[in-house]
Amino acid sequence: MKRAVLIALIALAACKQQAAAPEAAQAGPPPLLPYQMRAEAPSGDRLAAGRDGKALFENHCGACHLLGGMGTNLLTKQRVMAGETPDKGLLANRTDLTPDYVKQVVRMGKNAMPGQTRVDLTDAELDSVATYLGKAK
Ligand code: HEC
Repeated sequence: MKRAVLIALIALAACKQQAAAPEAAQAGPPPLLPYQMRAEAPSGDRLAAGRDGKALFENHCGACHLLGGMGTNLLTKQRVMAGETPDKGLLANRTDLTPDYVKQVVRMGKNAMPGQTRVDLTDAELDSVATYLGKAK
């Protein structure tokens, strides 16, 4: 008797899954995560001081440091290991970074992060990004 009920349940579950499949196909692929959509570079002189650090960060660093990026994933693990909340994996949420530290990591690289040259990011652009991220001053 128990076995019959079990078989009936399994059959029912299988039917449900089959019924759900076409729905999933209609929904299409899941939406892209922020790190997968390179933000547009802000316009203006790349050598000018005081540009939009957030926009520059999202354009130059976003592929690794926006939600879902490999930098975010690695840093989330580090921050959680250090006893912080997972949202601190996003550099934009950190309050312990100084502008000088950001600049050093960007030019020298750090562990899995490759150093960024002045062609990738000019000194003026890096200053703007460091001002945006360096909330510890
Ligand atoms: C190719 C991917 C990649 C790019 C592009 C990248 N980073 Fe990173 N970044 C990483 C990874 C990965 C780490 C974590 C390194 C580790 O500890 O293993 C990291 C770490 C950092 C850290 C250190 C955080 C800490 O807790 O010590 C800073 C600051 C940082 N990145 C800033 C930037 C800025 C600013 C840019 C853009 C100019 C940038 N990164 C571009 C991958 C990247």
